[in-house]
Amino acid sequence: MSKKFPFFKRKKEEVPDLEYEAVPSHVAIIMDGNGRWAQNKGLPRVAGHKEGVHAVNRVVRAAARANIDILTLYAFSTENWKRPKSEIDYLMKLPKQFLHIYLPEIMENNVRIETIGEFDALPDHTKNAVQNAIDKTANNNGLLLNFAINYGSRNEIMHAVKRLMNDIDSSKVTLDSLDENLFSNYLYTNGLRDPDLLIRTSGEQRLSNFLLWQSAYTEFWFTDTLWPDVDEAFFYQAIEEYQLRKRRFGGL
Ligand code: IPE
Ligand code: IPE
Ligand code: MG
Repeated sequence: MSKKFPFFKRKKEEVPDLEYEAVPSHVAIIMDGNGRWAQNKGLPRVAGHKEGVHAVNRVVRAAARANIDILTLYAFSTENWKRPKSEIDYLMKLPKQFLHIYLPEIMENNVRIETIGEFDALPDHTKNAVQNAIDKTANNNGLLLNFAINYGSRNEIMHAVKRLMNDIDSSKVTLDSLDENLFSNYLYTNGLRDPDLLIRTSGEQRLSNFLLWQSAYTEFWFTDTLWPDVDEAFFYQAIEEYQLRKRRFGGL
């Protein structure tokens, strides 16, 4: 049965031949525009990252209320290592800051935290903070809050191919059995359904190496809003517009 968005404003009587899409099960967001938000206010770029933490919580809260199953947030890409060290150092402290303020609310909302990306390459203090949250929330069974940290699609696909080739070498897997489903199991997103809706803030219209394999049939929603300005209403607007789309997956 399809779940209907509890806050959906339009009524079927008003748009008679509309067939609503169900609430998206998996929403992925490229949280972009922190630096520009700060620069517009004459502040250093990191002030935007600091403010962006609160937007993360607003969206998590909204997603939990809207019965979304999975929320994947792009927090740090494999290409973001190209930034100045001082900015990277700041970004690596953000998970701890976010969790210090919001872990109690996350627990209350029955949210489970997980990550995708090359976790081992993160600084120890970042890993510890995130791992602690993963452990604490492991038994929650509401929204899955999935942080993409040190994530890049090409890196993910390359790792998948390497592990797959190992398994073929050691006869754990046969070449004949390899299909799209089996390959998907080797990705960081193993076990997660593909995103139904992908949102990018800040006016950029590109994927920046995010979920390339997984977004084959994802609906995209781009907005000029800068990430730190994002609030619950913004999230509900994206959901509502998604529900007006007609997904065909190549069929009729
Ligand atoms: C998004 O904001 C946060 C990360 C990529 C970590 P940016 O830092 O990319 O902000 P802009 O795009 O420069 O405004
Ligand atoms: C994408 O944003 C990565 C994250 C939001 C974590 P970027 O700001 O790094 O992307 P580009 O460089 O504009 O493509
Ligand atoms: Mg950016």
